[in-house]
Amino acid sequence: MLKSGTYTQLAPILFGNGCAGQAGEAVGNLGCKKVLLVSDEGVLAAGAVETVKKALLGAGIQVIVWAEAQTDCPEDTVKAAAAIGRNGSVDGVVGVGGGSVLDTAKAVSAVIPNDVQVLDDIVLYLSGQKNYANQPLPVIEIPTTAGTGSESTFVAVVTSEKLDCKIGLPVPPAYGIVDSELTKTVPSYITAFTGMDALSHANESLTEQTNTPHSDLLAYEAIRLIKENLPLAVEDGTDMEARDRLAFASNIAGISFNESGVHIGHSAAHALGHLYHIPHGVCCANMTPAIIKFAAKTYPEKMKKLGNIMGAKITSDDPEVIGTQAADAVRKFAASIGVKTFKELGLSKDQVLAAKPMFYGDPLCMAFGGEVTEQDVTDILTDAYEG
Ligand SMILES: [Fe+2]
Repeated sequence: MLKSGTYTQLAPILFGNGCAGQAGEAVGNLGCKKVLLVSDEGVLAAGAVETVKKALLGAGIQVIVWAEAQTDCPEDTVKAAAAIGRNGSVDGVVGVGGGSVLDTAKAVSAVIPNDVQVLDDIVLYLSGQKNYANQPLPVIEIPTTAGTGSESTFVAVVTSEKLDCKIGLPVPPAYGIVDSELTKTVPSYITAFTGMDALSHANESLTEQTNTPHSDLLAYEAIRLIKENLPLAVEDGTDMEARDRLAFASNIAGISFNESGVHIGHSAAHALGHLYHIPHGVCCANMTPAIIKFAAKTYPEKMKKLGNIMGAKITSDDPEVIGTQAADAVRKFAASIGVKTFKELGLSKDQVLAAKPMFYGDPLCMAFGGEVTEQDVTDILTDAYEG
């Protein structure tokens, strides 16, 4: 029998090259009349903010632009943006950018009607012990990278000052707009590591404890699309066929892991990203081979299938052989598109192992669909470093 589970899609997605031009109609249909457009300097300079702003104004929606979002969504930026939104009496939030921008937009949409106490009580919201006194404002997410999947996931990952770590605030988006045209100007290296983030979402979704045949289907297809198209987009950023397929892959990987989940690789990536300010996708790219090797002991068939999609040509049914060969295929793939290893970034093994307490203490770590011991965590970090 197939594994039972709940099939979900969090928010409607408008998908297609050039579809950001329809943002005004989509936001208007949600009843918004004045929105805070959250973005960052780079996205503003690339022109995506102007594209979306024009579409919103064209539909008669007033727009306040706040383009000061920062990497890893620091709490003080969320507070600053929320104050501007509240003072401007906005009734919706539109995020235009990469993962940190989209997460900032989600968090801001919860803080505006509920105040900054939301950030102090983030653990209570995440664990379901506390509900919002006032519903978050509708948040419309428009990614400009093919990696995050945040337009289809229910948490905003923010950097908590109080807890000194990255942690998720639950804020489901109301709508997502996935337009590959907005990813056209993303530099090659960022294209590479954001694509590896999407690959890591799909990989971890396959072996998270709540995986379903439905989330698996989306994950395998995302992996196939990334394997075929990420090298093309890294080589030539104007290859819009490849960009379009990557935008789709990123979104369906997001739907997959929102239904299932991510686990050990993201616990490690959040800890290492927080400690050493390494981009999230780079951390995920370095962790993924080690996660595959570990997961193959419990899920040999799935990791064999993944490895073969990644070009490994695995014939053995031995979990250890499967894990090694599938991990090698992903490691070579990441190297071929220029993603740096932890060693190449100048980290020492001790620095990587120093993430262990934060990593092992993260509830996400236990979301893997099998046992994870303290020794496993040490072995995974060691493997991620030594390869
Ligand atoms: Fe991620």
